[in-house]
Amino acid sequence: MKNELRGRMTKDGIRIYDTSDFAGMHAAGALAARILDDIAGHVSVGQTTEAIDKAITDMVDAAGAVSATIGYKGYKHASCISVNHVVCHGIPGSKILKDGDILNIDVTVIVDGWFGDTSRMYVAGKLPRKAERLIQITHDSLMKGIEAVKPGNTFGDIGHAIQTYVESNRMSVVRDFCGHGLGRVFHAPPNVLHYGRPGTGAVLEEGMFFTIEPMVNLGRPETKTLADDWTAVTRDKTLSAQFEHSVGVTATGVEIFTLSPGGMFHPTYG
Ligand code: MF3
Ligand code: CO
Ligand code: CO
Repeated sequence: MKNELRGRMTKDGIRIYDTSDFAGMHAAGALAARILDDIAGHVSVGQTTEAIDKAITDMVDAAGAVSATIGYKGYKHASCISVNHVVCHGIPGSKILKDGDILNIDVTVIVDGWFGDTSRMYVAGKLPRKAERLIQITHDSLMKGIEAVKPGNTFGDIGHAIQTYVESNRMSVVRDFCGHGLGRVFHAPPNVLHYGRPGTGAVLEEGMFFTIEPMVNLGRPETKTLADDWTAVTRDKTLSAQFEHSVGVTATGVEIFTLSPGGMFHPTYG
């Protein structure tokens, strides 16, 4: 056989991609990450979230790519923008950013049929102390999860790494949303939980592509979804943060497809 990785599916229904498929994911991930770099200059006090989303739409168009979220289950925007106590799936709108607001911007693009999905945190004006700590812990929890990605480890190992780190810092991991397989599709098996027990869940194999996207709350983990059927908020109204990378399992570890070209993944880069 020419390539033993081609077209295989694990018993858990997780697709194993070909070695040559990493290039497609790399290109899609790089565009999504570049858009998140370039949008930083649009985040400021007085700006609306719909103006930020419009700039993202223009960037996707200019790159000759396609937004994965426009038309997805009736969603109409090129990004999700989740401000303060919004956990995820915030809909861009006429809301005006004020000093000290923190926001997650989540962008998924399709390049040559491959999906690149990434999100990170931004701040309008001055970053409040409490929010800074939340953002730092959330970012670092994602990186701890990514460190657990290598063949032979399990998805439970990833979740456990994230959960123990977050909880040891007296914050909570959202249970109601998870990461997901992706590749030539937006959402595929497995559900990548951000909590769990070591050694449980499917075993990681070379050629698996998925996202890790922990949502972390300063208060309790429970969420509720607003009447618009998208916006998820913390039930106790405390601040929430999220970072997301798309990754692939390599023979020896992990490739992050959505690395920031400008080294701007973390909001305190400046
Ligand atoms: N990008 C989100 C994720 O990380 C999904 C957004 S779906 C949308 O999976 F329709 F809300 F945009
Ligand atoms: Co995702
Ligand atoms: Co996303």
